[in-house]
Amino acid sequence: MQRQQPLFISIAYYFYWFLLFLALLPDSNAIESPQYTVVRSEPGVEIRLYKESSWMSALVRGGTSFEKSTKDGFHRLYQYIHGTNLNSSELTITAPVLTSITSPSPHESIYAVRLYMSANYGGASPQPKPELNLVLDKWRSHCVAVKKFSGFAKDDNINEEMEALVTVLGKISGGKPDSIEGKGSYSIAQFNAPSRLSGRLNEVWMNVSGFAAEGCPSY
Ligand SMILES: *[C@@H]1O[C@H](CO)[C@@H](O)[C@H](O)[C@H]1NC(C)=O
Ligand SMILES: *[C@@H]1O[C@H](CO)[C@@H](O)[C@H](O)[C@H]1NC(C)=O
Repeated sequence: MQRQQPLFISIAYYFYWFLLFLALLPDSNAIESPQYTVVRSEPGVEIRLYKESSWMSALVRGGTSFEKSTKDGFHRLYQYIHGTNLNSSELTITAPVLTSITSPSPHESIYAVRLYMSANYGGASPQPKPELNLVLDKWRSHCVAVKKFSGFAKDDNINEEMEALVTVLGKISGGKPDSIEGKGSYSIAQFNAPSRLSGRLNEVWMNVSGFAAEGCPSY
């Protein structure tokens, strides 16, 4: 399906990041992100134990591009936090914008673009209007392997970053290949506005369960 609002999507996208940028300026309230503790830290990878969290998610099916799908899904989330919800309320801006990529087959990718819902809503954030086609995902407490990278997250570098994370994980998990959950599924977390050119932070996330000694739950 071809969407006919690329310009609007881009404007909304940049505007959100602009607001995020303002929120990150000194003297304003710190922006909220999902809470975690670091249970293990190694060169090139951090294992984090995240608390329970709620994410508003926009599924983008049949997308062929990470960048395009992120903008498309993000546009719906942007409308949601700016009043297109059953409470008609403005919701708390959070970071990061998380795009999860699942490839059920080599030629197909499903993208889910997500925004963390502030803990202030206690898991009951206002309901999105149905036309936005969003769902609330509740994540139980779980461990995530994280690799940071700088620059821009793009179609032509995210796969490389994900593979580098898999390699490092293979090394530190001492040949326990099962430590990665949901093979072929990973997420890209973006923390900065596109207008920011240096000092940019992105992360690759993969769910892991093979770190029981470190306190990671294995369900
Ligand atoms: C949204 O509206 C419902 C029903 O009126 C109310 O119970 C709930 O507290 C509201 N939520 C927020 C975050 O304002
Ligand atoms: C990661 O784990 C959480 C909690 O079990 C789950 O809800 C979520 O779907 C997983 N994410 C991915 C990208 O597989």
